[in-house]
Amino acid sequence: MSPPAVVATGVTRTYELDGVSVPALRGVSLTVDDGDYLAIVGASGSGKSTLMHLLGGLDRPTAGSLVIGGRDVATLSAPEMARLRNEVIGFVFQSFHLLPRTTARDNVALPLVYRGVGRRERRARAAEMLERVGLAHRVDHRPNQMSGGEQQRVAIARALVTGPSVLLADEPTGNLDSATGASVLALLESLNADGVAVVLVTHDREVAARAHRRIVMRDGVVVDEPAA
Ligand SMILES: Nc1ncnc2c1ncn2[C@@H]1O[C@H](COP(=O)(O)OP(=O)(O)O)[C@@H](O)[C@H]1O
Ligand SMILES: [Mg+2]
Repeated sequence: MSPPAVVATGVTRTYELDGVSVPALRGVSLTVDDGDYLAIVGASGSGKSTLMHLLGGLDRPTAGSLVIGGRDVATLSAPEMARLRNEVIGFVFQSFHLLPRTTARDNVALPLVYRGVGRRERRARAAEMLERVGLAHRVDHRPNQMSGGEQQRVAIARALVTGPSVLLADEPTGNLDSATGASVLALLESLNADGVAVVLVTHDREVAARAHRRIVMRDGVVVDEPAA
């Protein structure tokens, strides 16, 4: 049996800012299994993004144990972390984080550059992913030539092109109108139905209600895991 996608045990994260310690996470334990669909809710400043960055290997805990794809991040160098992230995790942000002067196809292909995939195959796989997210007709468009919903679909295609087992989405519909947000959400759900574990941060109760699991954060800890 493969290990769970991500296991966090008693993780804390304290930021040091101008000589002041900010305890953003104060001891969180959480397992993300293959195929999970988990929503994280909680007030602004409760530590949701900090937790997402840890789950995605973008940051390391101050204390506690974090195991991603069976690897304890405490034992990994920065390049090893980057490789693990590239293999296991896809990340989608509220503000898309696309390269502005680069076509949709080249934005999506970028993670494959780091993996050493040749140009021809990169282009083919990027086009395939763009088709998967409903953007076959936008491969040569740049982000400023696309709507917000289209840009978020490009970002999702980029997150998926490496075949990750977990897709982490931090308020992915936060910058979208409700109809566009609903279509992005439907896409995430269909990816989950295809077997990708999805962890998403949301302020929207209805969105959270559709996930298979929910956790509520407050002041850097998980305060509740409501059943429905
Ligand atoms: N890079 C940082 N440096 C210092 N403090 C930070 C940093 N990032 C977040 N924080 C603080 O950590 C706490 C949790 O932030 P965050 O994880 O972004 O919460 P959320 O995503 O739930 O709004 C907040 O008090 C925030 O101000
Ligand atoms: Mg946040």
